[in-house]
Amino acid sequence: MKEQLANIRAQALAAFAAAADSAQLDALRVQYLGKKGELTAVLKMMGKLSPEERPAMGQLANEVRAALEQALEERSTALEAAALEKRLEDEAVDVTIPGKSVKLGHRHPMYIALDEIKEIFIGMGFTVLDGPEIELATYNFDKLNAEEGHPSRDWSDTFYFDTDSRVMLRSQTSPMQVRAMETMPLPIRIIAPGRVYRKDEVDATHSPMFHQVEGMVIDKNVTMADLKGTLNTVVEQLYGKGTKTRFRPHHFPFTEPSCEMDVQCHKCGGVGCPTCKGEGWIELLGAGMIHPHVLEMSGIDPNVYSGWAFGIGLERTAMRRFKIADLRLIFENDVRFLEQF
Ligand code: PHE
Repeated sequence: MKEQLANIRAQALAAFAAAADSAQLDALRVQYLGKKGELTAVLKMMGKLSPEERPAMGQLANEVRAALEQALEERSTALEAAALEKRLEDEAVDVTIPGKSVKLGHRHPMYIALDEIKEIFIGMGFTVLDGPEIELATYNFDKLNAEEGHPSRDWSDTFYFDTDSRVMLRSQTSPMQVRAMETMPLPIRIIAPGRVYRKDEVDATHSPMFHQVEGMVIDKNVTMADLKGTLNTVVEQLYGKGTKTRFRPHHFPFTEPSCEMDVQCHKCGGVGCPTCKGEGWIELLGAGMIHPHVLEMSGIDPNVYSGWAFGIGLERTAMRRFKIADLRLIFENDVRFLEQF
């Protein structure tokens, strides 16, 4: 039995020392010290010894058990420490590695132009409004004096959602004139930028989706002189002092009189060149005095109040501002193009 105990001790100690991880060590604990373990089996045979032999054997057995338990404990502590060490090593973060640089974007040239326009009008006391792109024909046409049968209501020009032609993608920002008149207290000074939609094929100057900025003033004694003075000031702030404008008669159903405003070509100074197609002038916006019937339809007395409005194409403004030749560049969003502004 003495020999047996010595063998168990030697084997167990060697096995503990060789255990690669806690799971293996646990299995060894069961193998040697468990209820059906090897040492337990020897202890069970104790009863068969003579009373003289028993105390010495008992002491030896206890020593072996204590030695195994201590060895287990030490090995367990060592394995845990090693496991922790390995985890720390595996999960180590090297804070000295340089970070991945984040590529910073910047504003789109069209929004740079829009922000400039907003700044100018906010400085003159205008409020900036936002409005729906899915619009009722009531606001896009009816209340703007474009009655049934008006050419702009044609299906070949306008995106409708219903067969009755009552719900549509707005074809202009002018419905915001009506929405402002119906909801805001007088006097009114607003601009309303946003997307508009028309059935146009894509080319260098056309897109089925583009942006406009609507502007409107309604007050007592507002005249065409206020319209011209305001727009001239805006143009000088956008394109530089001394930039010349000209106003040509035009027609819009909701303004009377109506006009288009041109700016003198920035490239040739008015002599005529490819940029202005030899004209010397470039068309910038439509405008006019709000038609009395339009005021009336929105509940404003045209005998007391008058007003003016304009609608400016935002892509065109940006193209002129940054000398961009093709409208498609504005929407393609190629970073090599965008990076230039
Ligand atoms: N809505 C007109 C257009 O899209 C522009 C405009 C706005 C004209 C306001 C007069 C007054 O062409």
